[in-house]
Amino acid sequence: MFQKNRIIFLTLIFFVPHVLSWGFVGHEIIAAIGQRFLSPKVYKKVLELLPEAHGNLSFIAAWADQIKYTPEYNFTAPMHYFDTSPLTDNPPSFCAVDWAPGKVEFDLITAIHNYSNRLDPNSDLSFLSRAEALKFLVHFIGDLHQPLHITSKDKGGNGIPVTFEGHNTNLHSIWDTNIIYKRIREFNENSTFDHNLSENDNRFNSSNPLSEGPSYDLYLNYIVDLMRTIWRNELSSWTICNEDLKLSHDHPSSYPNKLHFSSANESFDHFFLSMNQEISFSAACPEYWVIPINQLNCQVVFKYDPESDLSTGEYYERIVDEKVIEKLLAVAGIRIAAVLNTILN
Ligand SMILES: *[C@@H]1O[C@H](CO)[C@@H](O)[C@H](O)[C@H]1NC(C)=O
Ligand SMILES: *[C@@H]1O[C@H](CO)[C@@H](O)[C@H](O)[C@H]1NC(C)=O
Ligand SMILES: *[C@@H]1O[C@H](CO)[C@@H](O)[C@H](O)[C@H]1NC(C)=O
Ligand SMILES: *[C@@H]1O[C@H](CO)[C@@H](O)[C@H](O)[C@H]1NC(C)=O
Ligand SMILES: *[C@@H]1O[C@H](CO)[C@@H](O)[C@H](O)[C@H]1NC(C)=O
Ligand SMILES: *[C@@H]1O[C@H](CO)[C@@H](O)[C@H](O)[C@H]1NC(C)=O
Ligand SMILES: *[C@@H]1O[C@H](CO)[C@@H](O)[C@H](O)[C@H]1NC(C)=O
Repeated sequence: MFQKNRIIFLTLIFFVPHVLSWGFVGHEIIAAIGQRFLSPKVYKKVLELLPEAHGNLSFIAAWADQIKYTPEYNFTAPMHYFDTSPLTDNPPSFCAVDWAPGKVEFDLITAIHNYSNRLDPNSDLSFLSRAEALKFLVHFIGDLHQPLHITSKDKGGNGIPVTFEGHNTNLHSIWDTNIIYKRIREFNENSTFDHNLSENDNRFNSSNPLSEGPSYDLYLNYIVDLMRTIWRNELSSWTICNEDLKLSHDHPSSYPNKLHFSSANESFDHFFLSMNQEISFSAACPEYWVIPINQLNCQVVFKYDPESDLSTGEYYERIVDEKVIEKLLAVAGIRIAAVLNTILN
């Protein structure tokens, strides 16, 4: 993953503290969604564990990217992705994930299990280790929902040059950041907010998201509205651990509603999710969740025309129309909530 490292390294030099992998904005949106689904009891425990987040998980959502090249934490760099075998995973022709426990020491799927287990109060780890596990977990569940973190093809798309909004970039970057930024701009278009935001714009500087943060609230509200409406009946299926799970973006799920709702108030803001699983190595089940996300590489991500600007035409329109990015962000958020509600309950 040399190329991936190099690109992120250059990015760090020029745009400190702008960090990639879903871009920090993607991670913050995911965390903001997840937070809405925490039970009050779990939310309180999150507050205790992370006083520096001031009750806002968006604050810590990109931390794991900020520390991954420091000497103390550089061993975590391979935890941000999963390397598939080119023999079985070669999008867009065929897509598959071949994870097995212990195959490699550090990878994204293993890391989610590791930090789920370390966050568990029964782990008897120190307060600080558990707080750190929480920060890693929020980030890595986010990374799991970026399809290009789940394939080795051309270094997760880092090796594929593409054009987006007239700029030369690569496939990985547009899925990490450019598409989300464009969507955010589109939602800010009709507001009084200056819509000339670009990737290296200071206003995307979110080291202090509450005071001066990126203005993604309209976009976040749109995603939350989709969850209240067209996705409402399938939200519960998103926490199921099942290899048959489909992350459809065109038809509603037929999974039975096996969620644990709070009995008192079924209005959207009050339903609490927890995990709904048969068996896993921890409270999470990334080995199942990852299957349909990897499939998206065959269905959508790698179906590009190398000659065209991917911010226009069929490629981008399909992502918008089928709400591919919004759904990935929403699903990631729900899963963070479900895992935390299960572990910290
Ligand atoms: C992490 O950084 C230290 C100190 O710079 C270096 O010795 C070590 O090789 C690095 N490890 C990895 C996995 O990059
Ligand atoms: C689990 O997390 C701890 C703390 O960061 C780390 O030392 C250990 O290497 C991790 N193990 C795996 C398999 O990721
Ligand atoms: C912004 O307003 C225009 C004109 O009313 C409308 O066509 C467009 O859909 C709006 N954009 C968004 C993202 O709502
Ligand atoms: C935004 O960009 C457009 C097109 O590049 C330019 O005409 C306009 O003046 C810019 N607006 C601001 C507020 O910078
Ligand atoms: C934004 O980033 C700059 C470095 O580019 C940093 O000096 C500044 O403190 C950051 N702003 C906030 C609000 O944290
Ligand atoms: C957390 O911070 C983000 C970024 O500023 C903001 O959009 C979100 O509304 C905040 N959430 C809460 C619960 O304060
Ligand atoms: C349920 O939640 C909604 C939204 O927060 C609130 O307006 C309503 O009063 C609540 N109903 C009950 C019975 O608590």
